[in-house]
Amino acid sequence: MYRHIEESQTLLINTQSQVLEAQKKEIIKFGFGQSPFLPPEFVIDSLTKATYHKEYSSVQGDAQLRENISKFHEKHNGLVIKPENILIAPGSKILLFSILMAFEKADVLIPAPAWVSYEPQTKLAGHNSIHLATKYEERWRVTSATIREATKRKEHKTTIMILNYPGNPDGLTYTEQELIEIAKVAREMDILVISDEIYGLLTYSGDHHSFAKYYPEKTITTTGLSKWCGAGGWRLGVAMLYDTVAPEFKKALIGIASETYSCAPTPVQIAARTAYKDFELIKSYLTYQNEILYKIGIFCTEKLNASNIKVHEPQGGFYIFPDFSTHKEALAKKGILTSIQLCEQLLKDTGVAILPATAFGFEEKYLAARLAFVDFETPGIGKEFDLNRDCPKVVSGIQKICDWITAM
Ligand SMILES: Cc1ncc(COP(=O)(O)O)c(C=O)c1O
Repeated sequence: MYRHIEESQTLLINTQSQVLEAQKKEIIKFGFGQSPFLPPEFVIDSLTKATYHKEYSSVQGDAQLRENISKFHEKHNGLVIKPENILIAPGSKILLFSILMAFEKADVLIPAPAWVSYEPQTKLAGHNSIHLATKYEERWRVTSATIREATKRKEHKTTIMILNYPGNPDGLTYTEQELIEIAKVAREMDILVISDEIYGLLTYSGDHHSFAKYYPEKTITTTGLSKWCGAGGWRLGVAMLYDTVAPEFKKALIGIASETYSCAPTPVQIAARTAYKDFELIKSYLTYQNEILYKIGIFCTEKLNASNIKVHEPQGGFYIFPDFSTHKEALAKKGILTSIQLCEQLLKDTGVAILPATAFGFEEKYLAARLAFVDFETPGIGKEFDLNRDCPKVVSGIQKICDWITAM
């Protein structure tokens, strides 16, 4: 009678951690991917001043904000999107869902690993989901060969593919050449690409290439304030459509918005005008975050690799996706055969919370997990960052994982 839909596994691990915390156990929260950084002060000021704006905004979003976003992204990496093709919503999650809902029936190609919500959203929208398998050895990248192979399992006329980089859960990005290759096959097969670039501005090298530059005719880019601006709870997402978007498609998106969320909160849109006002003003804030995240990411991967836990150095965002398979036999002896058992036992034994690979599209016996290295206090912009002083929980959490696996 009811739809089968479980609570997001990201939130579930948080609940389990809270239960242990209530028993006064120290929990190191590597499970939930929330930015540890505060939004820039001038953006917070702008929100404070805008609270008296109690009116609804237009469904598509504040016109000044869309104008600012358009200029901001052009300055950031040369992505040119007209303000009239930008949609604002309470978070990019609902925009991703609205895009999927705008189609009657589609095949949706979803990489594995991929963010936890793509698959449930695809199913809720009544589409057919097709996994794009990737490998550790290929840095979890989708290749043109995988896409071609997957499209053999198509059931419908419309094909949508979701890309996400820098990635959640892997922290990895694509090279320009890899994007060109993917764009080639997408064009050949007439695939609508949703490029989830919510972590794009948190590319540590500062060199983020938007997929829409290589496939401008059919890419929708999604982003927002949640990650680069540390404002997940403010709920402001952005979708950037392509120039040649069919008017009926845009009408459907605005129709879905008007019948569901109505608009993003008006005060937040006004604060977002400030956040997106000038890319130059934001540059030092981004560099500050990226330098810290890079240092922590390298620390975590070096330590884990030294304990024979395979993991790639992250290139952006705040996640890594360690693979514990080299310890498979030792883990099996302790009755740990699945990634869920791995995470549950680790949490019980050490208080370290990570998320099992099953949440990211893997079969249950694949012994990997996502680790979000965000359990730390930020030192504040302009202040020197010291890993041991500022991130004691990250340092001890990683050490606990290494000790736990070594003792197996
Ligand atoms: C890959 C990815 N896409 C989209 C989102 C949704 O972000 P929001 O709805 O806050 O814009 C998240 C949040 O965790 C994410 O990790």
